[in-house]
Order: sequence, then structure tokens, then C-alpha cells
Amino acid sequence: MTKDEIRSYLEFYRDLGIQSIYLRPPDRSVESVSAPVTEPVRAPEIPPVLLEPLRPSVALPALEPPGDTLEKIREDIGDCRRCRLCEGRNTIVFGSGNPQSPLVFVGEGPGADEDQQGLPFVGRAGQLLTQMIDNTAAKEGLAIRRSDVYICNVVKCRPPENRTPQQDEMETCGQFLYRQLNTIKPKAICALGATAMKALLNTKEGITKSRGRWHEWQDIPVMITYHPSYLLRQYNQQARREAWEDLKTLLHYVYD
Ligand code: URA
Repeated sequence: MTKDEIRSYLEFYRDLGIQSIYLRPPDRSVESVSAPVTEPVRAPEIPPVLLEPLRPSVALPALEPPGDTLEKIREDIGDCRRCRLCEGRNTIVFGSGNPQSPLVFVGEGPGADEDQQGLPFVGRAGQLLTQMIDNTAAKEGLAIRRSDVYICNVVKCRPPENRTPQQDEMETCGQFLYRQLNTIKPKAICALGATAMKALLNTKEGITKSRGRWHEWQDIPVMITYHPSYLLRQYNQQARREAWEDLKTLLHYVYD
């Protein structure tokens, strides 16, 4: 990474209010490094994101049995063997957070840490998601923390080598995601990345075009933004600023 890239990386995290960053050392074991961001450089003003409500491209049928509950959905998943992802998983990662939350975040699928712990977004991407939610809310004066929202994934079992879930795996597991969303009935959903976007919206648009705008899943507004893993990988200041704007828009819509 060049000095300029490091500077823009730290500026982005400083803008989010993040005080500690996590570096992956060469031996690939994760280590927390305290890195207070003291750089006095002013970030440029970002123009507001244009929000354009879209209709869903397909009408999805109601999938949930009457009187559905999260407990019943988890029970129905059972020790699932419906697709090949069961072969490599340790744990089914169902979801976590406030089951009455007006806001649900949907990711792609568990990674190694999630597969070990049985909880979504607990690895590096999860740490970033937590910081993004907590710090954006604090900065915007909203009394919201990660534990106040509900978080789940399109597929509940870790894909081998963290590969993108395949269409049939998404369809098989998607029924449970839809039931989770229909049971919680949040005021808004945040689709994190292209897999969540594909699972919820029948769109052929790319994430760059779809993010930052309101879409709908079964009459529930859906905000699309970048997946935190992408933000960790990408040294692209623009993407990080855009994700921050998307989150601000989303949190104000849900909690104002
Ligand atoms: N990435 C996801 O999409 N979900 C998780 O739970 C963790 C990482």
C-alpha cells in the first residue's frame, strides 16, 4: 500500500469514528492493533446520494406458514441437509440480534469465524459492520447499537473457501431468509453486497448502480450497500464514503 492509500484508508475509518483497526499479520492470524487516528486532514464534502424509490421487478409469493416465529423457522431448518453446503459446515448460523428490530441487515453467508461461533458477522467483516452501525448512529445522534438490529445471511452454512453461494443454494436457503424477514417485518432491510441484493431483488443491475437507492422486497424498503468484506479489501475511498452515506440514509429513515 502506498502512503496515500494508507492515508485515505485511515481517513475513511476516522470519518466513521473508528479508533482501532484490525491488521492481518503475515501469518494470517488476526491481531487487534490499537491505532488512534490523529491525522488532522479534512475530508472533502461529499454530495448527497440521490434516492430513487423503485418497484420490485417481481411479485414474490408469501412463503411463511401462518403464525410463523423465528423459533419455528430455526426448528424447521433443523440439522439441515437440503444442499451441499451442509458438508463443510460446523454450525448453522441462523441470525442474531433483536427479533423485534425495525431494521434487518442481510449478508451473504457465514465465514470461518461465524461457522465456529454460530453467529453472523463476528469476524473481521463483522467487526467493521459493528463499527459502522455503532459509530454512524452515534455520529448522527441516534441511540442505536448493533445489538438493537437483527442480522442474518442469505445462506446459513459456510460455503467452502468462502466462495459465493450458488443459485440453487441461495434458493434452498432463501426460503428461510424470507420467512425470517416476514416474521420480523422490519421497517427497512439493508442488503449487504451483491448476493443479498440478488436474493431479495430480481435485478440484473450491478451493486455500484443499485447501492444508495431504495428498492423494495414485499413492500419493505431495501437499501443496498457494499458488503463490509469488500470495504476491507478495497482501497477505494469512494466506496467507503458511499457505504457510510448509505448507512446514514438508512438509519435516519428507520429511526428518525
Ligand atoms: N460475511 C457475511 O456475509 N456474513 C457473515 O455472517 C460474515 C461475513
